Amino acid sequence: MLIEWDVRVQTDDEILLKMQTAADLCLKCEKVTADCAVSVCLCDDETIAEINKKYRGIDRSTDVLSFPSVSYPEGKTAGSCPSLLRQEYDDETDAVFLGDLFISVPHMTAQAQEYGHSVMREGVYLLVHGICHLMGYDHMVDQDKERMRKMEEKILSAASVTREPEAREDAVLLDMAREAMKKSYSPYSSFPVGAALRSTDGRVFTGCNIENASFGLTNCAERTALFKAVSEGVLSFDTIAIAARKKAWPCGACRQVLNEFAPDIRILVTWEDHVEEKRLTELLPESFGPHSMDE
Ligand code: THU
Repeated sequence: MLIEWDVRVQTDDEILLKMQTAADLCLKCEKVTADCAVSVCLCDDETIAEINKKYRGIDRSTDVLSFPSVSYPEGKTAGSCPSLLRQEYDDETDAVFLGDLFISVPHMTAQAQEYGHSVMREGVYLLVHGICHLMGYDHMVDQDKERMRKMEEKILSAASVTREPEAREDAVLLDMAREAMKKSYSPYSSFPVGAALRSTDGRVFTGCNIENASFGLTNCAERTALFKAVSEGVLSFDTIAIAARKKAWPCGACRQVLNEFAPDIRILVTWEDHVEEKRLTELLPESFGPHSMDE
């Protein structure tokens, strides 16, 4: 797929590359053999709001807007209309122009945060959703909606992307720990700590330290996150990210509590723009745990 980029808000090359791969997979999954082109504008909220108002009469910003240039017969999509696409062939670009897409980069970033996955994942999702519209898919009635979702899922899984709330990437987990740090209740120490704990099924539980006037009753960020997870029935974890103003490995109590559920958990600590990694086995050698009491 030829993408005519109009990048008005700076976006990582890596994201653009992944979007290109996903666009190619859209044609492949839809079984379109013709060379096709789309124009993709990565813009700010004001621009997308203006376009939304001008062309759709809706006075607000949104995440993605698509303007197909091909009008498909009722119930048909690009893959089932090879001769129609041939008619739309443009000599100059040597491709069939499918239409224009506008993606709001601020929406893309905010939604990535909300779903707990990378900006790349969200960017790819929005692009695939938009291209599906350009290929004739719609989600106005239930039957069409299901067909569109199925095609989106097929393309996303071909591109190894899912929209499940997950944070496979450490960078996302570290950001979630930094966000959780902002919720810290630490009036006595003024030492905010945030934690983001990832379960083996990819869910993320965040926590912050919660202090108490009776100092000993303070709960650390790591244990807040862990107790949230365990109280939701999640008992298996692979990584915990911890953010603080200075380097702060988990305290002894948190090491012991983490050891109960994930004795080999990866621990990432971040402060300023540094990140360090260790395993719990390094921080709590010769530990006492559930197996220590086995016969
Ligand atoms: N703290 C944590 O949240 N995690 C740790 O592993 C070390 C300490 C918090 C507890 C207290 O609110 C503040 O940091 C100062 O000790």
